[in-house]
Amino acid sequence: MLVLGIETSCDETSVAVIDGAGRVRSNVIASQVGAHAIYGGVVPEVAARAHLTNLPGTFERALGDAGAALEDVELVAATAGPGLIGALLVGFSVGKALAFARGVPLVPVNHLEGHLFSAYLRADGSPAREVVTPFHGLVVSGGHAELVRVEEGRVVPLARTRDDAPGEAFDKVARRAGLPYPGGPVIDRIAAGGDGARVKLPVGRVSDGTRDFSFSGLKTAMLREFARRGVDGSPLEPDRLPPELVDLFASFQRAVVSALVERVEQIHAEEGICRLALSGGVAANSELRATLARWGDERGVPVLLPERTLTTDNAAMIAWAGLLRFRREGPRDFAAAGARSRWPLGIE
Ligand code: KG4
Ligand code: ZN
Repeated sequence: MLVLGIETSCDETSVAVIDGAGRVRSNVIASQVGAHAIYGGVVPEVAARAHLTNLPGTFERALGDAGAALEDVELVAATAGPGLIGALLVGFSVGKALAFARGVPLVPVNHLEGHLFSAYLRADGSPAREVVTPFHGLVVSGGHAELVRVEEGRVVPLARTRDDAPGEAFDKVARRAGLPYPGGPVIDRIAAGGDGARVKLPVGRVSDGTRDFSFSGLKTAMLREFARRGVDGSPLEPDRLPPELVDLFASFQRAVVSALVERVEQIHAEEGICRLALSGGVAANSELRATLARWGDERGVPVLLPERTLTTDNAAMIAWAGLLRFRREGPRDFAAAGARSRWPLGIE
């Protein structure tokens, strides 16, 4: 069985082909980072237009790389939300049209569910790991921070961010410092050479008794630190920062990682985590990966780290989540389904 995946929720146009065992046969990503870099963030209208331009070529290459023809595709999985509505509409409409034209089932995929199961995929073409429930998932990206429990057939949200997502915090802090976009990978690299215990920064907590995350206080604290050090947003060369700033960025990264791991620890204490799957763009972060791996080792909890190439938005994870949903639910009529900008995890 071959599954075609389509992802256009934000600024990557991606088409992938996987087989019934979750082997990634192709996973083509056309990134728009260059188109948005001059604005320091994703511009929705620019994204939608770029998807329209990039999708046909991405689709052809994905089939070509997989050595497959459209006739071989037996299931179409397309991201239906959450994300930028104009961007989503491009990929979801194309997915619908392909499924309709070929007479094969369509599965609308929740982008976050795509991330959630991505830790089970392998990038080297071998079959996916077996998905055993229950497991806990930590999805951390440019738009989301979600800690969930995955049970057979349902996802139970446990904590989410109240304000900025962790990736958004990385991007905003980098932008205010005059560092290149996107800020996550840049700060990750800078922080590797710094002392993360140097500057005490507030780890976000919400005071209403929920387990939700908050990252806007940390961002504000960083802006204060910038002001104190005369960092005014004029372009900075990441590889030539004064040691004091290197330590500041390392401390910022440490604070984000601590906030995430602290919450994982709390959930573990409350309900016991038997397996943890990390995912999302921020799952590429070296310190987060190392800290969670250590956390799992110390507690005897297996921690699944996604392959770095599968952490950012890609269609292989959408095809995989679509296949899992199809196997759970069987064929359904999604002719009337639409794209939705808001689609929280755990909601049908
Ligand atoms: O999952 P993703 O591709 O898109 C969303 O669904 O949001 O995540 C992109 C986010 C960006 O904010 C980017 O800065 C962040 O992931 N990111 C990182 C790293 N690589 C990407 N953040 C921290 N460390 C990294 N190494
Ligand atoms: Zn994403």
